[in-house]
Amino acid sequence: MPADFETVVGKKSSSLDEDWLRQRAEDYSGVALDIGTGDGRFVIAAAREEPDWLWIGLDPVKENMAKSARTAQSSIKRGGVPNAIFIRGTAEMLPGPFAGLADRITINYPWGSLLKIVSIPQKTLLERIKGCGKQGARVDIYLNYSTFTDPEYLDRLGFSESTDPATDPSLLETYVEAGFARPERTLFSGDPPFKSQWGRQLVRGADRQSLHLSTRILAN
Ligand SMILES: C[S@@+](CC[C@H](N)C(=O)[O-])C[C@H]1O[C@@H](n2cnc3c(N)ncnc32)[C@H](O)[C@@H]1O
Repeated sequence: MPADFETVVGKKSSSLDEDWLRQRAEDYSGVALDIGTGDGRFVIAAAREEPDWLWIGLDPVKENMAKSARTAQSSIKRGGVPNAIFIRGTAEMLPGPFAGLADRITINYPWGSLLKIVSIPQKTLLERIKGCGKQGARVDIYLNYSTFTDPEYLDRLGFSESTDPATDPSLLETYVEAGFARPERTLFSGDPPFKSQWGRQLVRGADRQSLHLSTRILAN
C-alpha cells in the first residue's frame, strides 16, 4: 500500500493532487465521501441520483474499484458519471487532502480494521474520519450486526466476545469525545435503503440484521 492517496483510473492510478480535488469539489453543491467503498457501485448509483454532488469512493483495494472508476470516466453517452471519483487509501491515512471537505460521510458494511474503528470504536482513528467533514456533516454507518452475535467470528477478528455496538454505552461516549453528535442506533432486518453489494449479500437470509449508526460532525 503506497503512503499517498492515489486517484484510480481504471486499472492504473496516480498520486492524488489535492488542488485538483479541491477544484473539483468547488464545481458541486456538496461532497460525499464513502469510506471502504469496495467495488464502488454504491458511489456510482448515488452519483447518478445526485448529479450536483461530487461522490468520492475510498478503498485500499484499487482492483475492486477499477470497473466503477472506468465507468465513471466514460463519456456521458456511454454512461459516464463525471461526478464520481475513486481514490485508493485507508481510513487510517485520513484526513490528508480530504480535511474539512465532506458534507456527508458514509461507511457501508465495513470489515477488518475499518469495522474496528467504527464499532469498538477507536477515538483517535474516529477523529481522522471526523477530520474529513465540515461542521454539521451527516455521517451514516451501516454494520453487519450478525458479526456481533457470532462469538467465534468475533474471536477471529480479535474482538472481545462482549462487543455489542447496539447496546454498548461507551460507544456513544467515544463518538462524542471524537467530535461527533451522540449517534442514533437503529437495528433493522433485510436490505439496506441503498445499493450495496455487501449490504445485500451479508444481510440475505433468515434473521440477519444491520445496525445503522447515524450522527453528525459537531466541530472541525
Ligand atoms: C464488506 S466490504 C463493503 C464494501 C462496500 N462498502 C459495500 O457496501 O458493498 C468492506 C470494505 O472495507 C474496506 N476496508 C477495510 N479496512 C479498511 C480501512 N482501514 N480503510 C478503508 N477501507 C477499508 C475493504 O477493502 C472492503 O472493500
